[in-house]
Order: sequence, then C-alpha cells, then structure tokens
Amino acid sequence: MSLQGKHIVLGISGSIAAYKSAVLTRLLIKKGAEVQIVITPAGREFITSVTLSALSGKPVVSEFFAQGDGTWHSHVELGLWADLMVVAPATAATLGKMANGIADNMLITTYLSMKAPVFVAPAMDLDMFQHITTQRNLETLQRDGVRIIDPATGELASHLEGKGRMEEPEQIVAILEQHFSEKSDLAGKRILITAGPTYERIDPVRFIGNFSSGKMGFALAEECAARGAEVWLITGPTALSLSHPAIRRIDVESAGEMHAAALQTFPEMDMAILSAAVADYRPEQMAKRKIKRTEGEGLSLTLIPNPDIAAALGHIKREGQLLIGFALETDNEEVNALRKMERKQLDFIILNSLRDEGAGFGHDTNKVTILSRSGTKRSFELQTKKEVARNIIDTTFSSSQIIY
Ligand code: CTP
Repeated sequence: MSLQGKHIVLGISGSIAAYKSAVLTRLLIKKGAEVQIVITPAGREFITSVTLSALSGKPVVSEFFAQGDGTWHSHVELGLWADLMVVAPATAATLGKMANGIADNMLITTYLSMKAPVFVAPAMDLDMFQHITTQRNLETLQRDGVRIIDPATGELASHLEGKGRMEEPEQIVAILEQHFSEKSDLAGKRILITAGPTYERIDPVRFIGNFSSGKMGFALAEECAARGAEVWLITGPTALSLSHPAIRRIDVESAGEMHAAALQTFPEMDMAILSAAVADYRPEQMAKRKIKRTEGEGLSLTLIPNPDIAAALGHIKREGQLLIGFALETDNEEVNALRKMERKQLDFIILNSLRDEGAGFGHDTNKVTILSRSGTKRSFELQTKKEVARNIIDTTFSSSQIIY
C-alpha cells in the first residue's frame, strides 16, 4: 500500500476528461491517500466541486479567497503539505501556463509553490497535442523536472481517433504507486556520472570519436536517481534522453570540456562513476577551415594526449568519496583492469571484455566483472544495462557502506 497516508494535490483543468478525475480521486482515497483538489475556473465547467469534495472528503480549492469569509487559501502551505502533485487532466492551456509561470489561477500558483514531485496527465485533441507549441511546453516541463504521463491513443471528444486521451485513472494510480515504491537507499547522496563518447575536432566538419552510445551511463543515472540520489550526468554527444527529474544533464563535446565539468562538480559529490569512453588523444591543432582534399596526397594528423579524467579525480579524491571506473579490454583483461584501478586510484573497476558477445558499445546488454580495491571480485552473466546498473550500485555502494 505505497499510497497509504500520502498527501496528494490533484489539479484539475478544463477538459472533458475531468469526469475521470472523480474516478481518480476515489481510487486514490481507496488506496489510503489524502487528496486535496485544486481546480481551475475552466475545470469547474466540467465537473462540480460538490462531487469532488464529496469524494475527497475535503473542500475543493479554486479561488485565492474562500467565498463568504474571505479566508486566504495558501498555495504555499499546499506546496509544503504535498508528497506529490498530479495535474489530471492537464489541458494545453494549463501546460502552457505551467511551462511559462503564468500564475493567474490557484492551480498554477500551487504548482509554482510545489516542493514535491509533479506529474501531469495531458488531455486534449490530437491536433492540439501534436502542435509544436504543446510539444515545446511539454519539453520545457520535462526539463523542469515535471513527469509527463503520456496520453493514450483512442477516440477523442471530437470523435477523431488519435493521441490525446488522458491516461486511464487506474494507470495513473499505478504510475504514482510506482513512484512511491522506488527504493530510496541513495537518498541524500550526490552522484556524478560521465557517459558517452567524446568528439575531438579536426576541423569544423570532422572529428575523432568512438562508438560509445552512452547507454550504460544513462542506465546508471536513471538507477541512481530512482534510488533517491541527486545525479549530475556529464555526457558526450548521444541521441539518448532521460526520464527522471532528479538528473541534471550537462552536455559536453570534447574530453577537455568533460574534464573541466567533472573537476568542477566532483568536490561536492559522494561518488563518481566514470563510464564515458573518453578519447585518449586529440588533434594538436584544430583547423579553422575545412581541410581540403589534395589529389593523390595523404594527410597526417599530430595527436596529443587528453587529460585522464579518472586519474585527475583520483588525485583530488577526499576520504569518504567513492570513485568507480570502467575498463574495456580486449586481452589480458583482469590484469589490465587491476592496473588501471591502481593507476587512477579507483575504489572499484567495472571490467567488460570486448571478447564477450553482447557486451560493450552500442548494445542494450552488458557482461561485467566488478573488481574492488580491497580485492573482491563479482562476475555477472550477460544482462540488460538496466540490470547491470542495479548490480553495480548494489555491489559498490552497499559494500562501501561497510568499508567507509
Ligand atoms: N577515463 C577517463 N579519462 C580518460 C580516459 C579514460 O576518465 N582520458 C576513464 C574511463 O571513463 C574509464 C576508465 O578511465 O572509467 C578507463 O578507461 P579506458 O579507456 O579503459 O582506459 P585508458 O586509461 O584510456 O587506458 P587504455 O585506453 O590504454 O586501455
């Protein structure tokens, strides 16, 4: 019963789907949650406060001032009271106001005062949902840490078929329950993760890079955030996106940029996991203009070493900080990995061998062995990167609790 005793602010805006909010309220109450409804003026056109207050057992908040006695409804207090806010249905207008801070009703002021995680369940016609403005607002909200409960595809109020139907109340409740059931053994921890490849420019159109997809680092970031950590993810160029709001993404291109961002962030961290495939070398010069082809002639580039980020962090690491690196090896794997751990002053090294099928760059799976400075070794079978991420955190963080 993960919703038992939880304080939930349910925001309702003006959509035909508002009738589903009555069902949602009833389900939340049945699960043991306390529900405070905040409705917009347009929302009241679709469902009455009498129905909603009867179901929630609390007066519905809509105006800044209570009618009659002029008592002020405090959105600030609601922001502190709530364990979670969910806006369902969230219309295009409400999403736009949330994304831009247009605080002209009680629902938006409550959102702006909210200290708890916020979910939105959009409901609108398919054209409105697909419109570039709505999509931009959703992207903004996602970047701001709001979680979007994707609308379903089906028949809409306009009798058209398409994406825009508010997710069913049962599904919304399941998503909220999932949120509260996430493990929180990393709560209060700050974790730095590097991910992806780095690109080293040769000229304005060419670079030296590698095939890293960033998937392992992104899976680690999601796992740490789901377990309650605050995550800083410094990533090289990748097509991947994130879903957890507690992940701060810092996009970089080159090893130099990643090095600078990591050095700046690391002092405040409890732990750093370095999964980036950092280019070891970069061109000595970056040509200002595109290098032109000369018929029949080769081209030589002089490469100079990039900074070793892991070693730099190992050098400034203070007591209590945990440093975890990866080793991608093709031969003599374990010996090479142990040497790397020593050289970079890592506490753990995650070894993957390119000789194992399904391990390494680009795959959704990985096969790892986790070696520790204190001499322990754990080998895993081929697993999804999500499972590998969980095992890495379980092994490194849990045992670190004992060592430190
Ligand atoms: N690493 C880093 N900065 C670098 C190179 C590597 O932070 N410039 C980190 C990687 O993120 C990884 C670990 O160091 O956690 C080992 O990376 P790897 O490429 O296997 O090791 P290298 O030191 O580059 O050694 P080699 O390429 O010779 O195997």
